Amino acid sequence: MLFGKKKLISLDIGANSIKLIELAKSRKSMSVERIAVLPTPMNAIVNGEIRDTDALATVISRIFEENKVAKKNIAIALNGSQVIVKKISIPKIDESLIAEQIKWEAEQYIPYEVNEVNLDYNVLKSSDDPGNISILVVAALREAIGKNLELATMSGYSIDVVDIGGFALFNVFNHNYDYEDSDRIVLFNIGSQLTNFVVVENKEIVFSRDIPVGGHSYTQEIEKALGIDFQEAEALKISASKGEEVPQEVISTISMAHDYFCDEINSTIEFFLNSSESSGFTSSYVTGGGLRVFGLYEKMVKNYKVKKLDPFKKMELNPKTVTAAALHKLSDISSIAVGLSVGKGI
Ligand SMILES: Nc1ncnc2c1ncn2[C@@H]1O[C@H](COP(=O)(O)OP(=O)(O)OP(=O)(O)O)[C@@H](O)[C@H]1O
Ligand SMILES: [Mg+2]
Repeated sequence: MLFGKKKLISLDIGANSIKLIELAKSRKSMSVERIAVLPTPMNAIVNGEIRDTDALATVISRIFEENKVAKKNIAIALNGSQVIVKKISIPKIDESLIAEQIKWEAEQYIPYEVNEVNLDYNVLKSSDDPGNISILVVAALREAIGKNLELATMSGYSIDVVDIGGFALFNVFNHNYDYEDSDRIVLFNIGSQLTNFVVVENKEIVFSRDIPVGGHSYTQEIEKALGIDFQEAEALKISASKGEEVPQEVISTISMAHDYFCDEINSTIEFFLNSSESSGFTSSYVTGGGLRVFGLYEKMVKNYKVKKLDPFKKMELNPKTVTAAALHKLSDISSIAVGLSVGKGI
């Protein structure tokens, strides 16, 4: 585009909150035009899946209207077990034959019927064996795409990109950070019910998995330990995280839950290391609302030497519609939405 700005709008529908972002891309830069967050209705999203379309449609219609954002060409993300990302290795074949070959191979490594999924792939720059090519295959459940289209119709917006959380996480990192081809980078987005975990090599994703733990795991532990309901447990978790006074049991439960959380992360890291030639990582970055949980960021720094990912590092803002304070406050929960919008501008 020679003149003017391109609008890049995306919607990240999480289990805890819904984020709407509008970026504008000009030739030289990207700027944040709008940012808005509303709470997700209870149990409307479970492990990334849409469970209550009506309740979501009400909130989503509101978020668009209150913020005067166009309801056209929206990017969304699929998460959790609705998507499977797998690296496979096949003998070198002509580029034009790959798509067909993947369909055949898919049956072996995807736990769904081939006609239940939409398949996409990326041929990776490096392969494990010189006679082979490595391919990252992405399978998205058609049913999940269908539910998102139904939600869009009910809420009055149209979707132009269906991405996946892990890829949006990569895009937000890639846009904002300078790094080397030789760097092997780990990215975490700790949400409420899931944590997107991505490994980047040669500046491309080689591994992406959604680990079923996040901020809600802590709430559930508090719920069990104190015999209270979810809302009460969530309120205590947030109070503790803000440094307010809470029963000692809340703090000790959170500390124990850190170990459970890290065990889950460790098994995924081990799985990745066992299934690849890779040895260690150059650097790691973390984002997501789960980071606000008391002591979790410190634990992540200690165990994985993470730095905080700033989704707005190389972005400008429109001072008429967005304040620096709002961006700062929302930076941890905005990464996926920003990554979805950035991905549209590539
Ligand atoms: N002040 C706070 N203190 C502690 N935890 C918080 C605070 N604010 C938010 N959280 C936690 O952050 C999590 C929400 O993060 P985020 O918005 O990234 O998740 P989500 O995108 O809605 O969920 P998911 O990606 O799993 O579907 C929740 O578990 C919530 O309890
Ligand atoms: Mg999320």
